[in-house]
Amino acid sequence: MQQIGYIEIQGLRLRDDPARDACFQVVRSDAEMHEYDGAGDVARRELIHRHMSNEVTSLDIAAQMLVDFPDAPWELKMELARQCWDESRHVMVLYRRLLELGGKKGEFPISTFEWSVTSALDDIAGRLATQNRTFEAGAMDVVGGLARGFRDIEDEKTAAVLDGILADEIQHVRFANRWIKKLAQLDRRVLLKVAMAIRFLSEANARLVWKPGEVNAVGKVLRDPKETIPAVNIEDRKLAEFSDDEIAVILRQAGFRSLIPEEKGLTAEQ
Ligand SMILES: [Fe+2]
Ligand SMILES: [Fe+2]
Repeated sequence: MQQIGYIEIQGLRLRDDPARDACFQVVRSDAEMHEYDGAGDVARRELIHRHMSNEVTSLDIAAQMLVDFPDAPWELKMELARQCWDESRHVMVLYRRLLELGGKKGEFPISTFEWSVTSALDDIAGRLATQNRTFEAGAMDVVGGLARGFRDIEDEKTAAVLDGILADEIQHVRFANRWIKKLAQLDRRVLLKVAMAIRFLSEANARLVWKPGEVNAVGKVLRDPKETIPAVNIEDRKLAEFSDDEIAVILRQAGFRSLIPEEKGLTAEQ
């Protein structure tokens, strides 16, 4: 088996790109992606293609954890193996929908940023905190809003595909939350690893995220990243076992400061 090495981008040591079919063009910045404005046919296909690609990346990340941490507890490895199965189904349902809409794989550039950041971390709790607890929890927020958006334009089929995916994602976030707690109870140093992982992620975001006003490869002007934070999916985050206090912190970070008391749990309507 060939080992996947590391690359240096803007002073950060990231994991090298995972293997992809020759039809895919892998890019490293949001400006090189083909995200479109509006809900036209091409915009819809690009969005589904991008999510399909993100599902492949989620599969890679979970599978690589099994490879890199063979001594992890058996029950955690079983969760990761089940996640691999879920993610592979997510890829297939999105691919089917893409074909139905006249698209094809490799039609648009893809990014494997989440892989490059997460799989650069040398410990399993850090990877769970980054991929499952941050990226996938963030994806729950995005997918909830997208399903509503597709219903608004009467694309019920795509909305139903996204609803099905969302139900699985809750479990991926939930088992990570459970296992991070469990691993930290066994060894308090795990908390330091988790904190370092989140710091590494925010550093990577700060260095690599697009700048407000930057224009992407298809002429879309990219908004300030702070304005593109999706509505927090409170209901599903609760199902994924984020505590009220943790959700309050996320809401504060997402700009709901005035609605959320600084120290206490959730009391306001969002
Ligand atoms: Fe998924
Ligand atoms: Fe997932």
